[in-house]
Amino acid sequence: MKGSFKMTDMRAIGVTRYRPIEDPESFTTFFEPKSTPTNHDLLVKIIATSVNPVDTGVRQGIQTPLKQPKVLGWDAYGTVEATGEAVSLFQPGDRVMYAGSFIRPGTDSEYQLVDERIVGHAPKHLKPAEIAAMPLTSLTAWEALFEQLHIPVDNAAETHGKTILIINGAGGVGSVATQLARMAGLKVIATASRPETIAWTKAHGANEVVNHRQDLVQQVRDLGVTFVDYILELSDLNQHWHEITELIAPSGHIVSITGSDQPIDLRALKQKRATFAWEWMYTKSYYQTADMISQHKILEQVSQLLDSGQLRSTLTKTLFPINADNLRAAHRLVESHHMMGKVVITNEHE
Ligand SMILES: NC(=O)c1ccc[n+]([C@@H]2O[C@H](COP(=O)([O-])OP(=O)(O)OC[C@H]3O[C@@H](n4cnc5c(N)ncnc54)[C@H](OP(=O)(O)O)[C@@H]3O)[C@@H](O)[C@H]2O)c1
Repeated sequence: MKGSFKMTDMRAIGVTRYRPIEDPESFTTFFEPKSTPTNHDLLVKIIATSVNPVDTGVRQGIQTPLKQPKVLGWDAYGTVEATGEAVSLFQPGDRVMYAGSFIRPGTDSEYQLVDERIVGHAPKHLKPAEIAAMPLTSLTAWEALFEQLHIPVDNAAETHGKTILIINGAGGVGSVATQLARMAGLKVIATASRPETIAWTKAHGANEVVNHRQDLVQQVRDLGVTFVDYILELSDLNQHWHEITELIAPSGHIVSITGSDQPIDLRALKQKRATFAWEWMYTKSYYQTADMISQHKILEQVSQLLDSGQLRSTLTKTLFPINADNLRAAHRLVESHHMMGKVVITNEHE
């Protein structure tokens, strides 16, 4: 633990330089002054947080030593402690959930400032860890399906008879996307490669499961499906690009949330006049877009769906409490690229 503690300080856990996750010094615990919220900001006391691939990716990118540790973490369940003068959606004491901004200090901290427009009220009937599993993946899946693929949220007549292929059905995002796509009335073909991820994907709404370690085109055609209307790519765009261009229907729609380390050849879509879109969950807060408050609205709907049982938390692993050792354990799990659902670190069980 670095520095000396003052009564106005808060504890945070950060990274000063990339070290392999086996290294006990891959995270640093330190103290810094607790911030005062202004404008649209909430000061939130973090109760539970989760780890996503973005955390391990950003940690791996810190190759030059930093003077101040970088605080990671983009999923939170917590309590509003104080509000800025422009805040209108929340008040102190509210229980909230959010993913946060890519360019502000993260959730691996005792307290955090976050803009109210990207925060939702937490569901009332779930446990802290079940809630913290959901914000980032739900926002990503929701925006990808309902904003970037333009699938109607609530119009079964329009989605009737249409099929979506979800590549990586059992990961954090896929476990939510599969549920939402099925809820929207689509037939869902999702991918998974192991007995437990295949069973999990079926339990979360997939009508059919195909193996992403084998030829997807052949397996989908073997199901009697020549083309799919939508494709949601959640693993490695370059690796699956050829299969995607083969399987997408004429006038179909594709969205990807992963990076592309090689250029992708959009010409492959011209003859089918299929569309391609990116989803980045951070776009709205990064650019402070006029529709940034839509993330508040999405999280409010997700909260209601969780409370009504229409959407299930994707929590599979809980660690207690939030500290550097448990962050290392969670990062190790996510780095394995075999996560099923989500890992959460919590300070409270109930
Ligand atoms: N753009 C955005 O806003 C955004 C948001 C969230 C995440 N992401 C990115 O999206 C990706 C997925 O995130 P996540 O949190 O869902 O990941 P995750 O939970 O770590 O995904 C783990 C799953 O990936 C599956 N998998 C491994 N290799 C695969 C392959 N070759 N093809 C298909 N699936 C494979 C594994 O299934 P098996 O073990 O059964 O093989 C495992 O269940 C990451 O790259 C992440 O950085 C982007």
